[in-house]
Amino acid sequence: MNVVILAAGQGKRMHSNLPKVLHPIAGKALAQHVIDTARELSPDKVVVVYGHGGDAVRESLSATDIAWARQEPQLGTGHAVMQALPELSLEGQTLVLYGDVPLTRAATLKRLLQAGRDGLAILTVELADPTGYGRIVRDAAGNVLRIVEEKDAKPEEKAIREVNTGIMAIPSARLEDWLGRLSNQNAQGEYYLTDIVALAVAAGLPVRTAQPEGEWEVLGVNSKVQLAELERIHQRHLADSLLTQGVRLSDPARIDVRGELVCGRDVAIDVGCVFEGRVELAEAVDIGPYCVLKNVTIAAGARLAAFCHLEDAVVGPDAVIGPYARLRPGTELGPEVHIGNFVEVKNSKIAAQSKANHLAYVGDAVIGQRVNVGAGTITCNYDGANKHKTIIEDDVFIGSDTQLVAPVTVGRGATLGAGTTLTKDAPPEALTVSRARQTTITGWQRPRKAKK
Ligand code: UD1
Ligand code: CA
Repeated sequence: MNVVILAAGQGKRMHSNLPKVLHPIAGKALAQHVIDTARELSPDKVVVVYGHGGDAVRESLSATDIAWARQEPQLGTGHAVMQALPELSLEGQTLVLYGDVPLTRAATLKRLLQAGRDGLAILTVELADPTGYGRIVRDAAGNVLRIVEEKDAKPEEKAIREVNTGIMAIPSARLEDWLGRLSNQNAQGEYYLTDIVALAVAAGLPVRTAQPEGEWEVLGVNSKVQLAELERIHQRHLADSLLTQGVRLSDPARIDVRGELVCGRDVAIDVGCVFEGRVELAEAVDIGPYCVLKNVTIAAGARLAAFCHLEDAVVGPDAVIGPYARLRPGTELGPEVHIGNFVEVKNSKIAAQSKANHLAYVGDAVIGQRVNVGAGTITCNYDGANKHKTIIEDDVFIGSDTQLVAPVTVGRGATLGAGTTLTKDAPPEALTVSRARQTTITGWQRPRKAKK
């Protein structure tokens, strides 16, 4: 079986420099959705017909097992499939898909292929408003005769509500002959792929139709309005599948999954959260409103309060994060760690039960267990040229407004007095403080305004 994905069209109405088929739905290019669905059918060959956007399209799609056919200029859908012909196997079926129709389910395509096993099959839908689409013309007995394009249709044909979605299963052995016989003598001066339907009928082959489960499966993207509509439809389906698995979503209309979200039992997700890349939430994880998580693993029972931003981070069991916490790449938090508001952690390991609850920067650090990082603490990890490590051993207490000028180590059980600027290692079990001594001047007078 061959799959041909038509993706040469320009997409003028997107008003964008990005080729249409590279615009994302759920963080993935439209054409990549189509390629991924095609792969589910285990085809022998996938050929993408590209043109507009040229190499950008080729480079952006993950396509190790894909063949490319350039169509330049674009003379119609029939002409497009013709460009793919040299790449196709001449046995079995050729499934034609559109690179800008991203949500078709593999199950629907399987049914279409089944319907076309001894002939040609067209995926069709009945639309309340069929304007713009090719119409399916049938005889009195209901047999498909041909497809007529809107611009070529007579008034009585325009009244037909069953339309061509563009998705077809064609017997590969006939393709070369049929495509060779297409003409561009029509209203648009194009080589219409749809004209092969009449050729199949003339050859006495059965032409059957199949229908998708929902109209959304065959909706295409021609504008940003349609892109946004399909995004919401797709997100709603993803949300429904999370709900079905038992995830509690405060509002299934207010979640965005742009990758893979894997949830354990009793996970709860509040409104406005965005999940990118691969995110794993273990049992009973609770995500507060308006959090953004990208490539994150969160262990059982951990809680994120509102407005947290996490990327390439691992959060331990029963940790408490946020509100307003930022975990940057390379953060690994142990069990029951607390990271509070306006705390930024980067490339650091923080072990069990340690806390940084207010206004801190922890970068390139290794922090032991039961450490208290006081408010306003900063690891000065960057000297303007190189990054250096800060090591804080178990049971350390760091007073507020402390700067740790790396590389530096704070020994086990040490205490750093508030306001310390630590430039040398602090020994274990002792108080280290660097601070001008406090003095009091008694009888001192505040300056007063001079009298005129
Ligand atoms: C096509 C169908 C029409 C159907 C409609 C469904 C034909 C002649 N008409 O019409 O029956 O109802 O789709 O949306 O097939 N493309 C190329 N190269 C080209 C022309 C198009 O790759 O030279 C690609 C486009 O990028 C797009 C797809 O083919 O992905 C359909 O092209 P489009 O111009 O949207 O076709 P319609 O005229 O809308
Ligand atoms: Ca179209």
